[in-house]
Amino acid sequence: MKKALILSQVLITYVSKLIGGILLITGLIYMSGCSNDDEENQAAKDQAAYDAADAIRGGRLYDKFWKTDDYTGPVDPSVNQNDIEDFGNFYRCKQCHGWDEKAKFGWYIDRAPKASRPDVSSEELTHMKNETDLRDMFEEVAHAGGADVDPARTADGTDPSLGGNDMPDFSKILTETQIWDLVKFLKEGQLNTENLYDLATSGSYPTGSKTMTNLGRDGSASAGDTFYTNNCASCHGADGTQILLEGKSLGAFARGGPHETQHKTKNGHPGSTMKGLPDATETDIKNLLKALADETKYPPVL
Ligand code: HEC
Ligand code: HEC
Repeated sequence: MKKALILSQVLITYVSKLIGGILLITGLIYMSGCSNDDEENQAAKDQAAYDAADAIRGGRLYDKFWKTDDYTGPVDPSVNQNDIEDFGNFYRCKQCHGWDEKAKFGWYIDRAPKASRPDVSSEELTHMKNETDLRDMFEEVAHAGGADVDPARTADGTDPSLGGNDMPDFSKILTETQIWDLVKFLKEGQLNTENLYDLATSGSYPTGSKTMTNLGRDGSASAGDTFYTNNCASCHGADGTQILLEGKSLGAFARGGPHETQHKTKNGHPGSTMKGLPDATETDIKNLLKALADETKYPPVL
């Protein structure tokens, strides 16, 4: 009798362990299935957000996000908007990564820091065109945990020990939609400036130097003239002298700064009536620059 009891107890423990084990294994299988599902859901959501994003809006955010139409203020209410605008160069993507996305190795090889602007970074973004992991790209732009908006940090760009050179935490400033717009700009919107003009550099940042030649490279000046007449002349005038751009005509501005002109032409000028040309191709911009190289047709302001 006693023996039978012990035997049945042993049997019960054994069976319950077996059931427990089976439950555990099923649970584990279920959970791992779940996390795969989560990843798949995330990937699908990311793809949908990317598809809905706008590279041109992203290009304007890259330039000066707080001047763009749909920026209404930092997403984190504890961030003070004035601490961004008063120290704008510490927050403009273009300051640290360049209009050509070549950071301190391209046009900005000689753009030394000042009290009001940080060093140009070493982080080139031209490779972002070829990236395929949308989640990675999103996180790189959002940079959660990065530098805070803090006037003490941005008080003097020539003193890197303050941290003014650090990539800000944009997850506290920009909405997810805006971050996706930036991702789309970096992946699809940025032009390859090497196809637009030749830039020879020597030395290294910040004392390096550069020489630009061959503006518009193998573009067609006559196609560029037509493009200009159709898309720019109504505001900038037939010869580009109607609106002064930092004291210059459009021709002079483009000849002195094609790295910036290509970006503004395609993406627009934040805060102005110039909204950019989403459909402009690399060839269009190349032709335009080729046309603007002509100082007789597009004279400087005398
Ligand atoms: C004050 C300078 C600064 C500003 C402004 C800045 N960045 Fe950065 N960025 C950096 C630095 C420095 C790194 C290198 C990563 C690090 O050290 O945290 C970096 C890294 C990156 C990376 C990762 C690149 C890679 O290959 O891994 C991306 C993408 C990027 N920045 C995009 C942007 C965008 C988009 C903006 C504007 C919304 C921006 N950055 C504004 C300094 C800056
Ligand atoms: C709807 C009017 C309009 C059209 C069309 C237009 N622009 Fe502009 N553009 C402006 C205004 C306004 C500004 C801002 C001037 C200022 O700084 O106040 C501007 C600024 C610029 C700048 C920026 C200069 C800077 O200071 O950073 C460039 C470069 C430029 N335009 C080139 C072009 C080119 C090239 C085209 C044609 C492809 C064009 N624009 C079409 C109105 C226009």
